[in-house]
Amino acid sequence: MAEIRPPRPRAKIFTNENQNLGFHQCRYGYKNVADLEGVVAGYAKAKIPLESIWSDIDYMDGGQDFTLDPTNFPANLLRPFVDRLHNNSQKYVVIIDPAIKKEAAPPQNESVGLFLQRNGTNYVGRVWPGEVYYPDFMSAHAAEYWARKISEFRRTIPADGLWCDMNEPSNFKDWEPLNEYDYSSYRINNTGIHRNLNNKTVPVSTVHFNGVSEYDAHNLYGLLESRATHDALLKDTARRPFVLSRATFVSSGRYTAHWTGDNDGRWEQLAQSINTILNFGLFGIPMMGADICGFTGNTTQDLCSRWIQLGAFYPFARAHAEKTTARRELYVWESTAQSARKALGMRYRLLPYIYTLMYEAHTTGSPIARPLFFSYPQDANTYGVDRQFLLGRGVLVSPVLEPGATTVDAYFPAGRWFSLHDRSPAITLQTGKRVTLPAPADSANVHLAGGNILPLQQPGLTTSTARQSEFHLLVALAENGTASGKLFLDDGESPEMGGVGGNWTLVRFSCNTEDSKGIITTKVSSHVVQNSYAPSRTLVIGKVAFMGLPSAPKGFTVYVNGVELKAARTKSRTNGVFSVSGLSLLIGQQFEVKVVTSH
Ligand code: NOJ
Repeated sequence: MAEIRPPRPRAKIFTNENQNLGFHQCRYGYKNVADLEGVVAGYAKAKIPLESIWSDIDYMDGGQDFTLDPTNFPANLLRPFVDRLHNNSQKYVVIIDPAIKKEAAPPQNESVGLFLQRNGTNYVGRVWPGEVYYPDFMSAHAAEYWARKISEFRRTIPADGLWCDMNEPSNFKDWEPLNEYDYSSYRINNTGIHRNLNNKTVPVSTVHFNGVSEYDAHNLYGLLESRATHDALLKDTARRPFVLSRATFVSSGRYTAHWTGDNDGRWEQLAQSINTILNFGLFGIPMMGADICGFTGNTTQDLCSRWIQLGAFYPFARAHAEKTTARRELYVWESTAQSARKALGMRYRLLPYIYTLMYEAHTTGSPIARPLFFSYPQDANTYGVDRQFLLGRGVLVSPVLEPGATTVDAYFPAGRWFSLHDRSPAITLQTGKRVTLPAPADSANVHLAGGNILPLQQPGLTTSTARQSEFHLLVALAENGTASGKLFLDDGESPEMGGVGGNWTLVRFSCNTEDSKGIITTKVSSHVVQNSYAPSRTLVIGKVAFMGLPSAPKGFTVYVNGVELKAARTKSRTNGVFSVSGLSLLIGQQFEVKVVTSH
């Protein structure tokens, strides 16, 4: 007899993305395999990074899970397409709904414990394929059934991730009340309207395995489906799974990413995406995003450009659109393409930093995208800031959220802030202040707080290409000449990120500055916490760039691990950035780079 599997309580958050930090393109309404192929080619031609292409329910035969539309998405065309994606280090993600067409389900006598029950029999609802049963993920039997179906499907189409939609669970069917639960006078605040509990979902009189009532367990449905899907993928691939779920609950972040749901292509929704993403980060779901360019309605070129300028910094960056809307892939408008290349170029450069934030989320619960008060709790003015956010501790994103804007009013906590676009020392403040910034048409303002060291790599059209490039360290000094940062690395696939005995590397970087009788020494050093990630290529830092060094009328002398470096390898720019290149600092070994000047 199957047993109830309550969610495993665990302090840790299991987040599951590495390559999935790349850019994703989705649309409800991609017509056939050739359409998908055309979109992938469109991105390549426009030289905009594309990590994954997604299929909504269009790929299914009549909206049924684990099937393929025999005309438009037949296996003999779809499989070679997915293989080509994989050969190019790209990925394919498909949607599944927790709704099994009645006729496709095992017969009633074999399906005990598989589906939600009502009045002693499988409850029949209505979703895309027509009349459906709902898997009862509270029972291990249903989780096994789900895993088997996923595994069978993956033998035909080796999808890299699964998107669990409609899992509140959604129901298009009207039904007759059965008992006192269905007559409950309790009302929920559903998009501002007080509706009854059963609105657009299964009746609350539905019963789960072992008699658990839907009245008590409704909010767990999405979590339990996410867990079953995550576990199924893990079993099938032995790799860290990628799941995206529409419904979530406490602890969902351990199994799934989340998006803000069906938004509109309107400016207000661009702005609202920020607070929703920040909220969910605080709720323990760090891998968050909103449908870039908006799901419903015809977005405009201006809005779409501004959306990718912001969306490129969502932890989960996916564009998605409803099927009746005009096409808005990022290459459709040249100005949007230009914004996308710039913003995603910066995101891909930041991938080692963002991945390290993922590790931090996994081990400490800190979100990837954070409200300003997370880093500046002593500054009460940050508490209400919801039109900007921080990636990690110190990367401040201040996007344009209004049509036609040529400036942005952004709040900066006290300290030094460097623009990440041109690396100029943009702003130094003794106390926090609102600052009016120019808002270039093709990019959001992104600043780095003094006191941070960012590990960077070079951009690429896929995360796999970016991961082959050399590392750089960007050291942004606080006014007292200090900075710190860290870098976490692994293969991105091992099921447990940073697990005991796992193959991963963690390095901490620190920088301080001393003034000894007019001789000023700024020293960056690394501390290797663990070094067991050993890919075939050697991981090296090729360049260290400093922002905010003291002025050096007599120039700088650089020492690497105590040895003086030839001046030709260093460069002072007019914007104050001083960089040391041509280095070969092994990431797995402690090193020290010293920059000395005298006054
Ligand atoms: C609802 C989801 O929220 C949306 O993203 C998706 O495109 C449709 N279902 C169709 O599957």
